[in-house]
Parts: sequence; structure tokens; C-alpha cells
Amino acid sequence: MARVFSGMQPTGDLHLGNYLGALKHFIPYQEKDDCYFCVVDLHALTVPGDPEALRKKSLELAMLYVAAGVDPNKATLFLQSNNSAHAEAAWLMQCVAKFGELGRMTQFKDKGQGSESVTTGLFTYPVLMAVDILLYNTDEVPVGEDQKQHLELARNLAERFNRQYEEIFTIPEPRIPDTGARIMGLDNPEKKMSKSAASPANYVMLLEDEKTIMKKFKRAVTDSDTEIRFDPEQKAGISNLLSIMSVVTGKSIPALIEEYQGRGYGHLKVDTGEAVIEALRPIQQRYQALAKSNEIEAILTQGAIKAREATSETLAKMKHAMGLVTF
Ligand code: TYM
Repeated sequence: MARVFSGMQPTGDLHLGNYLGALKHFIPYQEKDDCYFCVVDLHALTVPGDPEALRKKSLELAMLYVAAGVDPNKATLFLQSNNSAHAEAAWLMQCVAKFGELGRMTQFKDKGQGSESVTTGLFTYPVLMAVDILLYNTDEVPVGEDQKQHLELARNLAERFNRQYEEIFTIPEPRIPDTGARIMGLDNPEKKMSKSAASPANYVMLLEDEKTIMKKFKRAVTDSDTEIRFDPEQKAGISNLLSIMSVVTGKSIPALIEEYQGRGYGHLKVDTGEAVIEALRPIQQRYQALAKSNEIEAILTQGAIKAREATSETLAKMKHAMGLVTF
């Protein structure tokens, strides 16, 4: 039985990229593996925001995990800040990580844009992410493609710690899906779908109403050609629709190309919109039911207990290996 860990930030609303690149893939693991799924609220603090909104978004994200199929009887679901081992281990690992390697993280460069006034938390963020994973002796980490570099850092830090101090950490493997690992913006398929995009036409939110979803797909930016071909370089918009359709329906991309060839882009856009609406409908229904109950509180209370239990030994080993004395 493998140990599986993944997390998502409670900033903004979850979008289709988060679902198709990550969350959807979490679900099958819980049938065979020992899974920890986390609302990474400490990560959300790296960019300034409203405290009340963070509290609300954290609970909403936890409910979305469950609505999307995470079963609290099979997997552990918890809020990162409820297990203080994460913050404690992050400090220890910051004393192993190098300034230079953190400066090379492309997400920091994109988000920080060379500004002196970004928080130091934004800079050390990947170290916190590394210990999120390492504290649980994780074997596999299902994530979208944009987390690949962070995963590489987590592996490097684990190896360095093991060499420098003691063999404590398992070296985690990223699990990046073949299709859907990088869902692109509907208004600009050259850039990934993102919660921080300037226009709401960029993304589809998991809790968005059906009419708006369809409108966004109908207006999805494509090229002015008519050929249906999977070519993310030359035909980014069409390739994005094919990827979305493929992950949502389970049909292969070649089968979809055959099905839509010669029928014009309009059909593909509408059918992809419909397939997404169908896929999101049960999630939205479960979410509404959960939001009316207070079930999530009990789930997260139980999850926090299990998360603390799972990490206490590794944290103690880490501290001892580094020369700290505990009474
Ligand atoms: P976050 O919250 O930005 O995204 C959550 C997950 O969604 C994936 N994702 C996408 N996949 C496909 N297409 C897209 N356009 C797209 N946008 C986002 C991300 O790759 C991710 O898997 N640093 C992480 C959170 C984190 C974490 C961890 C993840 C903190 N600790 C430990 C795994 C393990 C993040 O900001 O993800």
C-alpha cells in the first residue's frame, strides 16, 4: 500500500484545471492506497488576503474535496494549519534548502516578478510544500504539470537531508496525468487556466452555473482553420478542448478527432461544454447538500487527529537528527 499525499490552495475558487489536472485523479487512489489530502491554508497566507475569506474558502475547499469523491472513511482530509508539524518542519527544512535554488523556482519568479515587497513566505513556499509531502513519508504525489519543479525540489531536499543528517525521508514520485495535466485558459489557450487570470472568461469554476459554463465554452478561443488535430503548439485552443473532453468522457484523443473531423469547431465546443456540465452536476449537487449540513467539521476534526498521528514520529526523528534535544 503506497502513501499518497496531495494538496490544493484555498485561494479563489477551484477551476476545471484543478479538477482535471489534480482532484479527479486523487479519487481512485483511496481504493488501494493510504491517502492524505490537504487544504493547504498556510500556503494561502503567502499572498495578502482577507482572514474571513480564507476561513470560508478553506471550508469550501474541504467540502469540494468530499463533493468530488474524497471519502473520509477511506482517505484522511485535513487543514494544513491543524497539524503544526508542517510549520515546524518547514523551519527545519529551510535550514537545509539553499537561497539560490529557491530563487530559481519559476512560480516564485512569475508571482513575485522581481518585486522586493513580496512576502518571504512566497519565497520559502516550496520548502513548506516539500515538508507537506516528506513528513508523511509519501511515495506518490498526484499533481498537475505546474507543480513538477516543486516536486523536484522536494526530492532534492529529501536526498540532501538523508545524506547530510540521517536516512529519514522516502523520495516521493510525482504522478502527473498524461492528459489534462495542463488545462489552458479558454480565452487564451497559450496560457494555463488560472484563478488569478485577469478575465473570468479564462476559467470555468467547479461551482459555476450551467448557462455560464456553456457560454464560456461557446466563446472559447480557437484558430481560424477548420481541421481538428491535436497539436498544442499550432492549435492550442482545439488541443485544449480535446484534452478537456478526453479527461471528462474517458474517450481517447484519436477517437475524438475521428468523431469531430469535418464537423466544424462549433460542435466540439458545445459538446465539450455539455460534457463538463454533466461531469460537474453531481459534484455541485453533493456540494450543496454538504454546505447545508455541518458534516465537514467532524470530517476535518478526525482528519487533523490522523494527520498529527501520521507525522509525529518523522518530525521527532528530523529534530533529533539535526541535533535538537527534546524533554
Ligand atoms: P494549486 O492550489 O495551485 O493547484 C492545485 C492542483 O491543481 C493543479 N492545477 C492544474 N492542473 C491542470 N491544469 C491547470 N491549469 C492547473 N492549475 C492548477 C496543480 O498542479 C495542483 O496539483 N503548491 C500547490 C499546493 C500544494 C501541494 C502540496 C500539492 C502545497 N503543498 C503538497 C501537492 C503536494 C499549489 O499551489 O497548487
